[in-house]
Amino acid sequence: MELTTTLLGAVLLFLLYGMLTIYRRGGTTNLPPSPGTLSFLLKFYIIQPIFFKVPPHKIFYSFAQKYGPVYIVDLFLMNLVVIHGADTIQEAFHNRHICDRPPVKILKHVLDGSGIAFSSGEVWKIQRRIAMTFMKTFGLNKTEFEDRVSVEADHLVAEVAKHEGQPFSPYVLMANAVSNVICQAVFGQRYDYADPQFKRLLGAIYRNIQLIGGVTGALQVMPGSQWYGRFLPPVRETGENFKLIYDFTRSVAEEHRKSFDPEHPRDFIDVYLRETESSAEKKSKVNLNDLCATVGDLFMAGTEATSTTVRWGMLYMMAYPEIQQRIQDEIDRVVGRDRFPNMSDRSQLPYTEATMLEILRLGNVVPLGAPHQASADTTIGGYRIPKGSIVFANIGMLGFDDKTFPEPEKFKPERFLDEAGQLTQQKNDMIPFSTGPRMCIAETMSRTELFVFFTRLIHRFTFRKPAQAPPISFQGVPGITLSPLPFEICAVPRK
Ligand code: HEM
Repeated sequence: MELTTTLLGAVLLFLLYGMLTIYRRGGTTNLPPSPGTLSFLLKFYIIQPIFFKVPPHKIFYSFAQKYGPVYIVDLFLMNLVVIHGADTIQEAFHNRHICDRPPVKILKHVLDGSGIAFSSGEVWKIQRRIAMTFMKTFGLNKTEFEDRVSVEADHLVAEVAKHEGQPFSPYVLMANAVSNVICQAVFGQRYDYADPQFKRLLGAIYRNIQLIGGVTGALQVMPGSQWYGRFLPPVRETGENFKLIYDFTRSVAEEHRKSFDPEHPRDFIDVYLRETESSAEKKSKVNLNDLCATVGDLFMAGTEATSTTVRWGMLYMMAYPEIQQRIQDEIDRVVGRDRFPNMSDRSQLPYTEATMLEILRLGNVVPLGAPHQASADTTIGGYRIPKGSIVFANIGMLGFDDKTFPEPEKFKPERFLDEAGQLTQQKNDMIPFSTGPRMCIAETMSRTELFVFFTRLIHRFTFRKPAQAPPISFQGVPGITLSPLPFEICAVPRK
Protein backbone atom coordinates (compact mmCIF):
# COMPACT_ATOMS: atom_id res chain seq x y z
CA MET A 1 0.00 0.00 0.00
CA GLU A 2 2.77 2.38 1.06
CA LEU A 3 4.73 1.63 -2.10
CA THR A 4 1.67 2.30 -4.26
CA THR A 5 1.12 5.66 -2.52
CA THR A 6 4.81 6.63 -2.99
CA LEU A 7 4.69 5.64 -6.65
CA LEU A 8 1.47 7.54 -7.19
CA GLY A 9 2.95 10.60 -5.48
CA ALA A 10 6.05 10.40 -7.67
CA VAL A 11 3.96 10.12 -10.86
CA LEU A 12 1.81 13.08 -9.78
CA LEU A 13 4.89 15.18 -9.00
CA PHE A 14 6.38 14.24 -12.37
CA LEU A 15 3.17 15.21 -14.19
CA LEU A 16 2.90 18.45 -12.24
CA TYR A 17 6.51 19.32 -13.05
CA GLY A 18 5.91 18.50 -16.75
CA MET A 19 2.82 20.74 -16.82
CA LEU A 20 4.69 23.56 -15.09
CA THR A 21 7.52 23.30 -17.62
CA ILE A 22 5.08 23.38 -20.55
CA TYR A 23 3.32 26.37 -18.96
CA ARG A 24 6.65 28.15 -18.37
CA ARG A 25 7.62 27.56 -22.00
CA GLY A 26 4.23 28.73 -23.33
CA GLY A 27 3.41 25.34 -24.89
CA THR A 28 5.43 22.75 -26.75
CA THR A 29 5.03 23.85 -30.36
CA ASN A 30 8.08 24.70 -32.44
CA LEU A 31 10.59 24.56 -29.60
CA PRO A 32 14.17 23.57 -30.55
CA PRO A 33 15.01 19.86 -30.18
CA SER A 34 16.16 18.78 -26.70
CA PRO A 35 18.64 16.14 -25.50
CA GLY A 36 16.56 15.71 -22.32
CA THR A 37 17.48 17.00 -18.88
CA LEU A 38 18.86 13.84 -17.33
CA SER A 39 21.02 12.82 -20.26
CA PHE A 40 22.30 16.41 -20.55
CA LEU A 41 23.16 16.70 -16.84
CA LEU A 42 24.92 13.33 -16.76
CA LYS A 43 27.01 14.05 -19.83
CA PHE A 44 27.70 17.73 -19.08
CA TYR A 45 28.52 17.56 -15.37
CA ILE A 46 29.80 14.02 -14.87
CA ILE A 47 30.73 11.75 -17.77
CA GLN A 48 32.50 14.14 -20.17
CA PRO A 49 34.34 16.46 -17.74
CA ILE A 50 35.28 13.90 -15.08
CA PHE A 51 36.10 10.81 -17.13
CA PHE A 52 37.22 12.36 -20.42
CA LYS A 53 38.35 15.88 -19.34
CA VAL A 54 36.24 17.48 -22.11
CA PRO A 55 35.73 21.25 -21.68
CA PRO A 56 32.14 22.65 -21.65
CA HIS A 57 32.17 24.16 -25.18
CA LYS A 58 33.16 20.79 -26.68
CA ILE A 59 30.43 19.00 -24.72
CA PHE A 60 27.89 21.56 -26.00
CA TYR A 61 29.20 20.90 -29.51
CA SER A 62 28.80 17.14 -29.17
CA PHE A 63 25.06 17.69 -28.46
CA ALA A 64 24.81 19.98 -31.51
CA GLN A 65 26.10 17.19 -33.74
CA LYS A 66 23.07 15.13 -32.74
CA TYR A 67 20.38 17.80 -32.18
CA GLY A 68 21.39 20.53 -34.63
CA PRO A 69 22.65 24.13 -34.27
CA VAL A 70 19.89 25.21 -31.84
CA TYR A 71 18.81 23.03 -28.92
CA ILE A 72 17.05 23.59 -25.63
CA VAL A 73 17.53 21.96 -22.23
CA ASP A 74 15.14 22.20 -19.31
CA LEU A 75 17.29 22.90 -16.26
CA PHE A 76 14.47 22.71 -13.72
CA LEU A 77 13.40 26.32 -13.34
CA MET A 78 15.38 27.53 -16.35
CA ASN A 79 15.48 27.04 -20.14
CA LEU A 80 19.00 26.73 -21.49
CA VAL A 81 19.35 27.33 -25.24
CA VAL A 82 22.68 26.61 -26.92
CA ILE A 83 23.42 27.87 -30.45
CA HIS A 84 26.11 26.95 -32.96
CA GLY A 85 27.32 28.12 -36.38
CA ALA A 86 28.17 31.60 -37.69
CA ASP A 87 24.78 32.35 -39.30
CA THR A 88 22.74 31.25 -36.27
CA ILE A 89 24.94 33.19 -33.84
CA GLN A 90 24.83 36.33 -36.01
CA GLU A 91 21.04 36.09 -36.24
CA ALA A 92 20.55 35.52 -32.51
CA PHE A 93 22.96 38.12 -31.17
CA HIS A 94 21.63 40.84 -33.48
CA ASN A 95 18.12 40.15 -32.19
CA ARG A 96 17.21 42.93 -29.73
CA HIS A 97 15.17 40.45 -27.67
CA ILE A 98 18.31 38.41 -26.90
CA CYS A 99 20.43 41.20 -25.42
CA ASP A 100 19.74 40.84 -21.68
CA ARG A 101 21.94 39.07 -19.16
CA PRO A 102 20.63 36.66 -16.52
CA PRO A 103 20.74 38.45 -13.13
CA VAL A 104 23.68 37.71 -10.79
CA LYS A 105 21.50 36.50 -7.97
CA ILE A 106 24.00 35.32 -5.35
CA LEU A 107 26.03 38.54 -5.20
CA LYS A 108 23.07 40.91 -5.21
CA HIS A 109 23.84 42.01 -1.66
CA VAL A 110 27.28 43.37 -2.77
CA LEU A 111 26.69 44.28 -6.40
CA ASP A 112 24.07 46.92 -5.77
CA GLY A 113 25.37 49.02 -8.67
CA SER A 114 24.54 47.94 -12.18
CA GLY A 115 27.81 47.83 -14.14
CA ILE A 116 27.94 46.84 -17.82
CA ALA A 117 28.67 43.17 -18.04
CA PHE A 118 25.78 41.81 -15.94
CA SER A 119 23.11 44.47 -16.34
CA SER A 120 20.15 44.52 -18.71
CA GLY A 121 17.67 46.87 -20.37
CA GLU A 122 17.86 50.63 -19.92
CA VAL A 123 20.46 50.45 -17.13
CA TRP A 124 22.83 48.44 -19.34
CA LYS A 125 22.34 50.85 -22.27
CA ILE A 126 23.38 53.81 -20.09
CA GLN A 127 26.47 52.09 -18.68
CA ARG A 128 27.52 50.81 -22.07
CA ARG A 129 27.03 54.23 -23.69
CA ILE A 130 29.28 55.87 -21.06
CA ALA A 131 31.96 53.22 -21.60
CA MET A 132 31.79 53.67 -25.38
CA THR A 133 31.99 57.48 -24.99
CA PHE A 134 35.12 56.92 -22.95
CA MET A 135 36.62 54.63 -25.59
CA LYS A 136 36.08 57.36 -28.18
CA THR A 137 37.21 60.30 -26.02
CA PHE A 138 40.43 58.61 -25.04
CA GLY A 139 41.29 57.19 -28.38
CA LEU A 140 41.29 53.73 -26.88
CA ASN A 141 40.38 52.67 -30.36
CA LYS A 142 43.08 54.84 -31.93
CA THR A 143 46.86 55.11 -31.99
CA GLU A 144 47.36 57.22 -28.84
CA PHE A 145 46.27 54.20 -26.84
CA GLU A 146 49.19 52.35 -28.39
CA ASP A 147 51.62 54.74 -26.67
CA ARG A 148 50.13 53.94 -23.25
CA VAL A 149 50.30 50.20 -23.89
CA SER A 150 53.89 50.59 -25.12
CA VAL A 151 54.92 52.23 -21.83
CA GLU A 152 53.49 49.24 -19.95
CA ALA A 153 55.06 46.80 -22.41
CA ASP A 154 58.47 48.40 -21.67
CA HIS A 155 57.97 47.74 -17.96
CA LEU A 156 56.93 44.18 -18.74
CA VAL A 157 60.02 43.61 -20.91
CA ALA A 158 62.23 44.98 -18.09
CA GLU A 159 60.61 42.61 -15.57
CA VAL A 160 60.97 39.61 -17.89
CA ALA A 161 64.64 40.53 -18.50
CA LYS A 162 65.29 40.28 -14.72
CA HIS A 163 64.89 36.49 -15.00
CA GLU A 164 68.03 36.40 -17.23
CA GLY A 165 66.84 33.46 -19.31
CA GLN A 166 66.01 31.32 -16.23
CA PRO A 167 62.60 29.58 -15.90
CA PHE A 168 59.73 31.68 -14.51
CA SER A 169 55.93 31.58 -14.49
CA PRO A 170 54.49 34.34 -16.70
CA TYR A 171 51.07 34.32 -14.99
CA VAL A 172 51.37 37.17 -12.48
CA LEU A 173 53.64 39.32 -14.65
CA MET A 174 51.27 39.22 -17.60
CA ALA A 175 48.24 39.97 -15.43
CA ASN A 176 50.10 42.88 -13.76
CA ALA A 177 50.92 44.42 -17.12
CA VAL A 178 47.42 44.04 -18.56
CA SER A 179 45.73 45.27 -15.36
CA ASN A 180 48.00 48.28 -15.32
CA VAL A 181 46.75 49.25 -18.79
CA ILE A 182 43.25 49.28 -17.31
CA CYS A 183 44.46 51.20 -14.21
CA GLN A 184 45.90 53.85 -16.55
CA ALA A 185 42.64 54.07 -18.45
CA VAL A 186 40.34 54.02 -15.40
CA PHE A 187 42.27 55.70 -12.57
CA GLY A 188 44.64 57.77 -14.71
CA GLN A 189 47.80 56.19 -13.34
CA ARG A 190 49.90 53.06 -13.59
CA TYR A 191 51.32 51.35 -10.50
CA ASP A 192 54.68 49.84 -9.78
CA TYR A 193 54.32 46.03 -9.75
CA ALA A 194 55.63 46.02 -6.14
CA ASP A 195 53.26 48.78 -4.91
CA PRO A 196 51.38 47.32 -1.90
CA GLN A 197 48.08 48.97 -2.87
CA PHE A 198 48.34 47.61 -6.44
CA LYS A 199 49.20 44.16 -5.07
CA ARG A 200 46.15 44.20 -2.78
CA LEU A 201 43.87 45.34 -5.58
CA LEU A 202 45.20 42.76 -8.04
CA GLY A 203 45.09 40.05 -5.37
CA ALA A 204 41.36 40.71 -4.97
CA ILE A 205 40.81 40.75 -8.75
CA TYR A 206 42.70 37.48 -9.42
CA ARG A 207 41.04 35.71 -6.54
CA ASN A 208 37.60 36.76 -7.78
CA ILE A 209 38.49 35.62 -11.27
CA GLN A 210 39.30 32.17 -9.80
CA LEU A 211 36.22 32.10 -7.55
CA ILE A 212 33.75 33.28 -10.19
CA GLY A 213 35.24 30.88 -12.73
CA GLY A 214 34.87 28.12 -10.11
CA VAL A 215 32.71 27.61 -7.02
CA THR A 216 30.95 31.00 -6.86
CA GLY A 217 30.05 30.84 -10.58
CA ALA A 218 28.74 27.28 -10.22
CA LEU A 219 26.61 28.26 -7.21
CA GLN A 220 24.98 31.00 -9.28
CA VAL A 221 23.02 28.37 -11.23
CA MET A 222 21.99 26.27 -8.21
CA PRO A 223 18.26 26.43 -7.43
CA GLY A 224 17.49 28.75 -4.50
CA SER A 225 21.10 30.03 -4.22
CA GLN A 226 19.88 33.64 -4.04
CA TRP A 227 18.74 32.85 -0.49
CA TYR A 228 21.54 30.71 0.97
CA GLY A 229 24.45 31.58 -1.39
CA ARG A 230 25.70 34.64 0.45
CA PHE A 231 26.33 32.63 3.63
CA LEU A 232 28.73 30.19 1.93
CA PRO A 233 32.47 30.93 2.43
CA PRO A 234 33.48 31.24 -1.30
CA VAL A 235 30.59 33.62 -2.01
CA ARG A 236 31.42 35.64 1.12
CA GLU A 237 35.05 35.87 -0.01
CA THR A 238 34.00 36.97 -3.51
CA GLY A 239 31.83 39.67 -1.93
CA GLU A 240 34.69 40.89 0.31
CA ASN A 241 37.02 41.12 -2.71
CA PHE A 242 34.43 43.11 -4.63
CA LYS A 243 34.11 45.42 -1.65
CA LEU A 244 37.86 46.04 -1.67
CA ILE A 245 37.79 46.92 -5.39
CA TYR A 246 34.73 49.15 -4.90
CA ASP A 247 36.18 50.93 -1.86
CA PHE A 248 39.36 51.64 -3.80
CA THR A 249 37.38 52.94 -6.80
CA ARG A 250 35.18 55.06 -4.56
CA SER A 251 38.18 56.66 -2.86
CA VAL A 252 39.82 57.46 -6.22
CA ALA A 253 36.50 58.88 -7.47
CA GLU A 254 36.22 61.10 -4.37
CA GLU A 255 39.77 62.36 -4.97
CA HIS A 256 38.97 62.98 -8.66
CA ARG A 257 35.91 65.02 -7.71
CA LYS A 258 38.10 67.61 -5.97
CA SER A 259 40.13 68.40 -9.10
CA PHE A 260 37.59 67.43 -11.75
CA ASP A 261 37.33 69.59 -14.90
CA PRO A 262 34.52 68.44 -17.24
CA GLU A 263 36.26 70.10 -20.20
CA HIS A 264 39.39 68.03 -19.67
CA PRO A 265 38.54 64.53 -18.47
CA ARG A 266 41.69 62.63 -17.49
CA ASP A 267 40.39 59.08 -17.40
CA PHE A 268 37.30 56.86 -17.21
CA ILE A 269 36.35 58.11 -13.74
CA ASP A 270 36.31 61.71 -15.02
CA VAL A 271 34.19 60.74 -18.04
CA TYR A 272 31.80 59.01 -15.68
CA LEU A 273 31.63 62.00 -13.32
CA ARG A 274 31.02 64.28 -16.31
CA GLU A 275 28.12 62.10 -17.45
CA THR A 276 26.69 61.90 -13.94
CA GLU A 277 26.90 65.58 -13.20
CA SER A 278 25.93 66.97 -16.61
CA SER A 279 22.17 66.98 -15.93
CA ALA A 280 19.72 66.25 -13.13
CA GLU A 281 18.10 63.59 -15.30
CA LYS A 282 21.37 61.76 -15.84
CA LYS A 283 22.27 62.19 -12.18
CA SER A 284 19.12 60.33 -11.28
CA LYS A 285 20.06 57.44 -13.58
CA VAL A 286 23.73 56.85 -12.70
CA ASN A 287 25.46 56.89 -9.33
CA LEU A 288 28.76 56.11 -7.66
CA ASN A 289 27.77 52.47 -7.04
CA ASP A 290 27.25 52.02 -10.78
CA LEU A 291 30.67 53.52 -11.42
CA CYS A 292 32.25 51.03 -8.99
CA ALA A 293 30.43 48.10 -10.58
CA THR A 294 31.48 49.19 -14.07
CA VAL A 295 35.12 49.59 -13.00
CA GLY A 296 34.97 46.10 -11.45
CA ASP A 297 33.65 44.78 -14.78
CA LEU A 298 36.43 46.44 -16.77
CA PHE A 299 39.07 44.82 -14.55
CA MET A 300 37.49 41.39 -14.57
CA ALA A 301 36.61 41.33 -18.25
CA GLY A 302 39.77 43.12 -19.37
CA THR A 303 42.53 41.52 -17.32
CA GLU A 304 41.78 37.85 -17.64
CA ALA A 305 40.96 37.49 -21.36
CA THR A 306 43.86 39.57 -22.64
CA SER A 307 46.57 38.23 -20.32
CA THR A 308 45.43 34.65 -20.91
CA THR A 309 45.68 35.16 -24.69
CA VAL A 310 49.26 36.45 -24.35
CA ARG A 311 50.13 33.45 -22.15
CA TRP A 312 48.74 31.08 -24.80
CA GLY A 313 50.93 32.96 -27.28
CA MET A 314 54.05 32.38 -25.16
CA LEU A 315 53.17 28.70 -24.78
CA TYR A 316 52.74 28.23 -28.54
CA MET A 317 55.99 30.05 -29.25
CA MET A 318 57.80 27.78 -26.80
CA ALA A 319 56.21 24.73 -28.48
CA TYR A 320 56.90 25.82 -32.08
CA PRO A 321 60.42 27.30 -32.20
CA GLU A 322 60.45 27.30 -36.02
CA ILE A 323 57.30 29.50 -36.13
CA GLN A 324 58.79 31.80 -33.48
CA GLN A 325 61.97 32.08 -35.59
CA ARG A 326 59.92 32.93 -38.70
CA ILE A 327 58.12 35.75 -36.83
CA GLN A 328 61.42 37.10 -35.51
CA ASP A 329 62.88 37.02 -39.04
CA GLU A 330 59.84 38.91 -40.39
CA ILE A 331 59.99 41.54 -37.64
CA ASP A 332 63.77 41.95 -37.99
CA ARG A 333 63.43 42.37 -41.77
CA VAL A 334 60.56 44.90 -41.66
CA VAL A 335 61.25 46.77 -38.40
CA GLY A 336 64.92 46.06 -37.67
CA ARG A 337 66.57 45.69 -34.26
CA ASP A 338 66.74 49.40 -33.35
CA ARG A 339 63.08 50.01 -32.58
CA PHE A 340 60.04 48.03 -31.50
CA PRO A 341 57.24 47.07 -33.94
CA ASN A 342 54.19 49.37 -33.86
CA MET A 343 50.65 49.19 -35.16
CA SER A 344 51.53 50.98 -38.41
CA ASP A 345 53.91 48.07 -39.21
CA ARG A 346 51.06 45.57 -39.00
CA SER A 347 50.20 45.48 -42.70
CA GLN A 348 53.82 44.56 -43.45
CA LEU A 349 53.90 41.77 -40.88
CA PRO A 350 51.37 39.28 -42.31
CA TYR A 351 53.03 36.17 -40.84
CA THR A 352 53.10 37.75 -37.38
CA GLU A 353 49.45 38.78 -37.77
CA ALA A 354 48.49 35.30 -38.99
CA THR A 355 50.22 33.77 -35.95
CA MET A 356 48.29 36.04 -33.61
CA LEU A 357 45.01 35.03 -35.29
CA GLU A 358 46.01 31.39 -34.88
CA ILE A 359 46.71 32.03 -31.16
CA LEU A 360 43.27 33.67 -30.79
CA ARG A 361 41.67 30.71 -32.61
CA LEU A 362 43.36 27.87 -30.71
CA GLY A 363 43.75 29.75 -27.40
CA ASN A 364 40.00 30.28 -27.65
CA VAL A 365 39.93 32.08 -24.31
CA VAL A 366 36.19 32.87 -24.09
CA PRO A 367 34.69 29.88 -25.96
CA LEU A 368 31.13 30.37 -24.72
CA GLY A 369 31.17 34.18 -24.57
CA ALA A 370 28.85 35.36 -21.81
CA PRO A 371 25.25 34.21 -21.28
CA HIS A 372 22.46 36.23 -22.92
CA GLN A 373 18.84 36.13 -21.80
CA ALA A 374 15.69 36.46 -23.93
CA SER A 375 13.70 39.48 -22.74
CA ALA A 376 10.60 38.42 -24.75
CA ASP A 377 9.32 35.40 -26.67
CA THR A 378 11.32 35.32 -29.89
CA THR A 379 12.85 32.99 -32.50
CA ILE A 380 16.26 31.65 -33.49
CA GLY A 381 16.71 29.66 -36.71
CA GLY A 382 12.90 29.43 -37.02
CA TYR A 383 12.49 27.87 -33.55
CA ARG A 384 10.46 29.50 -30.78
CA ILE A 385 12.60 30.73 -27.86
CA PRO A 386 10.53 31.38 -24.71
CA LYS A 387 11.01 34.60 -22.76
CA GLY A 388 13.60 34.23 -19.97
CA SER A 389 15.65 31.51 -21.75
CA ILE A 390 19.40 31.69 -21.15
CA VAL A 391 21.20 31.64 -24.50
CA PHE A 392 24.82 30.50 -24.87
CA ALA A 393 26.56 30.91 -28.25
CA ASN A 394 29.38 28.48 -28.89
CA ILE A 395 31.62 31.09 -30.50
CA GLY A 396 34.77 29.12 -29.71
CA MET A 397 33.75 26.20 -31.94
CA LEU A 398 33.54 28.48 -35.00
CA GLY A 399 37.33 28.30 -35.11
CA PHE A 400 37.20 24.48 -35.11
CA ASP A 401 34.92 24.04 -38.12
CA ASP A 402 37.00 21.77 -40.36
CA LYS A 403 35.39 23.12 -43.54
CA THR A 404 36.77 26.60 -42.82
CA PHE A 405 39.83 25.50 -40.88
CA PRO A 406 41.08 22.12 -42.16
CA GLU A 407 42.97 20.10 -39.50
CA PRO A 408 41.56 22.48 -36.88
CA GLU A 409 43.56 21.05 -33.94
CA LYS A 410 46.88 21.94 -35.61
CA PHE A 411 48.76 25.21 -34.98
CA LYS A 412 49.23 26.49 -38.56
CA PRO A 413 49.45 30.29 -38.99
CA GLU A 414 49.67 29.82 -42.81
CA ARG A 415 45.95 28.95 -42.85
CA PHE A 416 45.31 32.71 -42.66
CA LEU A 417 47.62 33.51 -45.60
CA ASP A 418 47.12 33.28 -49.36
CA GLU A 419 49.73 32.02 -51.82
CA ALA A 420 51.35 35.45 -51.93
CA GLY A 421 51.73 35.36 -48.13
CA GLN A 422 49.04 38.00 -47.52
CA LEU A 423 46.22 37.75 -44.95
CA THR A 424 42.99 36.11 -46.17
CA GLN A 425 40.80 35.88 -43.07
CA GLN A 426 37.05 36.18 -43.70
CA LYS A 427 35.28 38.47 -41.23
CA ASN A 428 32.80 36.06 -39.63
CA ASP A 429 34.86 32.88 -39.61
CA MET A 430 35.91 33.61 -36.04
CA ILE A 431 34.29 36.03 -33.60
CA PRO A 432 36.30 35.77 -30.38
CA PHE A 433 34.87 39.10 -29.22
CA SER A 434 31.29 37.97 -30.06
CA THR A 435 28.90 40.01 -32.21
CA GLY A 436 25.87 42.31 -31.99
CA PRO A 437 25.02 45.09 -29.51
CA ARG A 438 26.32 43.06 -26.56
CA MET A 439 29.71 42.20 -28.06
CA CYS A 440 32.95 43.03 -26.21
CA ILE A 441 33.37 46.79 -25.81
CA ALA A 442 37.13 46.53 -26.22
CA GLU A 443 37.90 44.54 -29.38
CA THR A 444 40.12 47.17 -31.00
CA MET A 445 41.74 48.02 -27.68
CA SER A 446 42.48 44.33 -27.00
CA ARG A 447 43.86 43.69 -30.46
CA THR A 448 46.24 46.66 -29.96
CA GLU A 449 47.28 45.34 -26.54
CA LEU A 450 47.85 41.84 -27.89
CA PHE A 451 49.92 43.13 -30.81
CA VAL A 452 52.09 45.44 -28.69
CA PHE A 453 52.75 42.96 -25.85
CA PHE A 454 53.30 39.99 -28.15
CA THR A 455 55.59 41.67 -30.68
CA ARG A 456 57.69 43.44 -28.01
CA LEU A 457 58.27 40.22 -26.15
CA ILE A 458 59.17 38.32 -29.33
CA HIS A 459 61.40 41.18 -30.52
CA ARG A 460 63.38 41.17 -27.25
CA PHE A 461 63.35 37.48 -26.25
CA THR A 462 63.33 33.96 -27.62
CA PHE A 463 60.99 31.76 -25.61
CA ARG A 464 62.26 28.28 -24.75
CA LYS A 465 61.01 25.32 -22.78
CA PRO A 466 62.97 24.93 -19.53
CA ALA A 467 65.22 21.83 -19.64
CA GLN A 468 63.53 20.06 -16.71
CA ALA A 469 59.94 21.11 -17.56
CA PRO A 470 57.22 18.48 -18.20
CA PRO A 471 55.99 18.03 -21.80
CA ILE A 472 54.07 21.05 -23.10
CA SER A 473 50.30 20.64 -22.73
CA PHE A 474 47.68 22.54 -24.73
CA GLN A 475 44.87 21.40 -22.51
CA GLY A 476 42.66 24.34 -21.57
CA VAL A 477 41.51 24.79 -17.97
CA PRO A 478 37.89 26.02 -17.94
CA GLY A 479 37.11 28.95 -15.65
CA ILE A 480 36.15 32.54 -16.44
CA THR A 481 38.41 31.95 -19.44
CA LEU A 482 39.91 28.82 -20.96
CA SER A 483 43.49 29.19 -19.77
CA PRO A 484 46.64 27.10 -20.22
CA LEU A 485 47.76 24.81 -17.38
CA PRO A 486 50.33 26.62 -15.20
CA PHE A 487 53.73 26.53 -16.93
CA GLU A 488 57.25 27.94 -16.66
CA ILE A 489 59.18 29.42 -19.55
CA CYS A 490 62.68 30.73 -20.29
CA ALA A 491 62.90 34.14 -21.99
CA VAL A 492 66.38 34.21 -23.55
CA PRO A 493 67.41 37.81 -24.40
CA ARG A 494 68.09 38.39 -28.12
CA LYS A 495 71.11 40.32 -29.31
C1 HEM B 1 41.47 38.89 -25.82
C2 HEM B 1 40.74 39.77 -25.16
C3 HEM B 1 39.24 39.73 -25.02
C4 HEM B 1 38.32 38.83 -25.50
C5 HEM B 1 38.57 37.58 -26.34
C6 HEM B 1 37.01 39.29 -25.07
C7 HEM B 1 35.82 38.66 -25.36
C8 HEM B 1 34.59 39.05 -24.88
C9 HEM B 1 33.36 38.32 -25.09
C10 HEM B 1 33.22 37.04 -25.90
C11 HEM B 1 32.37 39.00 -24.45
C12 HEM B 1 30.89 38.59 -24.35
C13 HEM B 1 30.08 39.25 -25.44
C14 HEM B 1 28.64 38.81 -25.46
O1 HEM B 1 27.99 38.79 -24.42
O2 HEM B 1 28.14 38.45 -26.54
C15 HEM B 1 32.97 40.16 -23.84
C16 HEM B 1 32.26 41.11 -23.11
C17 HEM B 1 32.85 42.19 -22.51
N1 HEM B 1 34.18 42.55 -22.55
FE1 HEM B 1 35.66 41.58 -23.52
N2 HEM B 1 37.16 40.45 -24.33
C18 HEM B 1 38.51 40.75 -24.28
C19 HEM B 1 39.08 41.84 -23.66
C20 HEM B 1 38.40 42.83 -23.00
C21 HEM B 1 38.99 44.01 -22.40
C22 HEM B 1 40.48 44.38 -22.48
C23 HEM B 1 37.97 44.72 -21.81
C24 HEM B 1 37.98 46.03 -21.04
C25 HEM B 1 38.97 46.71 -20.67
C26 HEM B 1 36.75 43.98 -22.03
C27 HEM B 1 35.52 44.38 -21.57
C28 HEM B 1 34.34 43.69 -21.80
C29 HEM B 1 33.05 44.10 -21.25
C30 HEM B 1 32.78 45.31 -20.34
C31 HEM B 1 32.12 43.17 -21.71
C32 HEM B 1 30.63 43.15 -21.42
C33 HEM B 1 29.89 43.90 -22.54
C34 HEM B 1 28.39 43.97 -22.31
O3 HEM B 1 27.88 43.17 -21.54
O4 HEM B 1 27.75 44.84 -22.93
N3 HEM B 1 37.05 42.84 -22.76
N4 HEM B 1 34.34 40.16 -24.10
